Amino acid sequence: MMQRWGRRKPSHYPLLALVFSLFILLSILYNEHYIQQIHEHKQVSITQQYVSPNISSNNKPKRIPGPRGCYRLMFFFSFVSLIFLASLDRFTTCTSTRMYGGQKGISPDNQLRSGISEKCDMFSGEWIFDNTSYPLYNESDCPYMSDQLACRKHGRTDLGYWNWRWQPNDCNLKRWNATEMWEKLRGKRLMFVGDSLNRGQWISMVCLLQSVIPADKRSMSPNAALTIFRAEEYNATVEFYWAPLLVESNSDDPVNHRLDDRIIRPDSVGRHASQWENADILIFNTYLWWRQGPIKLLWTKEENGICEELDGIGAMELAMESWANWVASKVDPVKKRVFFVTMSPTHLWSREWEPGTEGNCYHEKTPIKRYGYWGSGSDLPTMRMVEKVLSGVSSKVYVLNITQLSEYRKDGHPSVYRKFWETLSSQQLSNPSSYSDCIHWCLPGVPDVWNELLFHFLQ
Ligand SMILES: *[C@@H]1O[C@H](CO)[C@@H](O)[C@H](O)[C@H]1NC(C)=O
Ligand SMILES: *[C@@H]1O[C@H](CO)[C@@H](O)[C@H](O)[C@H]1NC(C)=O
Ligand SMILES: *[C@@H]1O[C@H](CO)[C@@H](O)[C@H](O)[C@H]1NC(C)=O
Ligand SMILES: *[C@@H]1O[C@H](CO)[C@@H](O)[C@H](O)[C@H]1NC(C)=O
Ligand SMILES: *[C@@H]1O[C@H](CO)[C@@H](O)[C@H](O)[C@H]1NC(C)=O
Ligand SMILES: *[C@@H]1O[C@H](CO)[C@@H](O)[C@H](O)[C@H]1NC(C)=O
Repeated sequence: MMQRWGRRKPSHYPLLALVFSLFILLSILYNEHYIQQIHEHKQVSITQQYVSPNISSNNKPKRIPGPRGCYRLMFFFSFVSLIFLASLDRFTTCTSTRMYGGQKGISPDNQLRSGISEKCDMFSGEWIFDNTSYPLYNESDCPYMSDQLACRKHGRTDLGYWNWRWQPNDCNLKRWNATEMWEKLRGKRLMFVGDSLNRGQWISMVCLLQSVIPADKRSMSPNAALTIFRAEEYNATVEFYWAPLLVESNSDDPVNHRLDDRIIRPDSVGRHASQWENADILIFNTYLWWRQGPIKLLWTKEENGICEELDGIGAMELAMESWANWVASKVDPVKKRVFFVTMSPTHLWSREWEPGTEGNCYHEKTPIKRYGYWGSGSDLPTMRMVEKVLSGVSSKVYVLNITQLSEYRKDGHPSVYRKFWETLSSQQLSNPSSYSDCIHWCLPGVPDVWNELLFHFLQ
């Protein structure tokens, strides 16, 4: 039953090893060439180009003409790898597509213990204005800040979004202490795995932690699928691994993932798991990428490239089950801590919190006060599905249920105050809501509180 992650035939191994090292080499070459390549897109989306956190605004990413030979090699290689490795990448296509015909190859693991009960619900409460203890760090003091999230640097002048403290109803959140967090991390690898929302939480964590480490005792590896922040004196790392759909997909390239079709291998987390399996503390998320329409499924045992099509929530459930099976079979809760972060809300329609208006998060300066406010961006059927899957692994996974508390924070998004990689038209510029980012979160801001919750639960 535990075999399902490695279905390759043993006779392929020497060839696989060769092909795989070639792949690594080419990916490195490839990443260096294209890391700053820009794609045209008109609207903010979760597939927004990501460029290394340390790119100053006068050092704009340039459109680099791609060396054709390298591309051809990549194509050739992808072809070879498709045949021998049966791996999925952004060049993968379906030969044909039919409707999803039911479960294939994933069986839920039922031999699990019951859940961990919390004495107090840290996720129900309210936001209190507190400009004496917040923000927990200054935007300009964090050298690892991303231009997607540095809102003041990009012109935001109302800075109230820095100053809100989360106050749970019946208890207090442990106060953030960077030194104490480093002590918890000593000799360990803390890894965030997921999409750009999770990357925002990772940047927040790095910013929260970096100030107490002298500049010559810390380092950040170049931006890649796996990006690593290291602190020498603690022998600890804080890492981010790009896997927006958790399972293997054609969107696993951290830079080039703007594709027409999403193709996933619903039964395979193996390739990603090999990156994350040795981390000591894992923080997973996945949600928004499943909300963009139907997903194509390319099962591992499918040999003719025929895909099945399934709606986002169904496909997400298959992926979550594969992930949960990995957790069930590979996580020893004594040695490893696993967290799952629930969906991050969006604020795309102001009529949801202020009926009669036509805007979005643009120009919002204060949190929503209505207790229990819930917007249409946070899909309840998805939440119930996630809850069901997580209940099967509740002895091994802590839920960071950030959805409700973040729902209130319509003021927390970058809107127009971030770097946009494409040139904005005069029509867009005259109507700021039209290109506002109401998905990601400014830093310092809401994700800092998600990390305080993580800190709280890590004791
Ligand atoms: C905090 O906010 C209060 C009320 O808005 C204001 O009077 C005070 O000057 C602020 N303090 C700081 C340190 O910004
Ligand atoms: C942010 O910077 C101000 C002055 O520029 C300083 O007074 C304050 O302590 C800093 N806050 C943090 C959390 O480092
Ligand atoms: C960010 O870039 C600037 C100049 O490009 C450099 O001085 C600084 O050390 C860099 N910071 C990090 C954390 O790499
Ligand atoms: C933070 O934690 C360290 C180590 O546990 C402790 O020595 C220090 O007093 C704490 N700081 C605060 C402000 O509580
Ligand atoms: C540093 O941490 C790693 C695990 O992340 C461990 O294998 C290694 O032995 C540690 N090194 C030292 C010098 O403590
Ligand atoms: C998260 O909290 C909401 C209420 O705020 C609840 O409806 C939902 O079921 C919770 N999700 C999980 C996965 O526990």
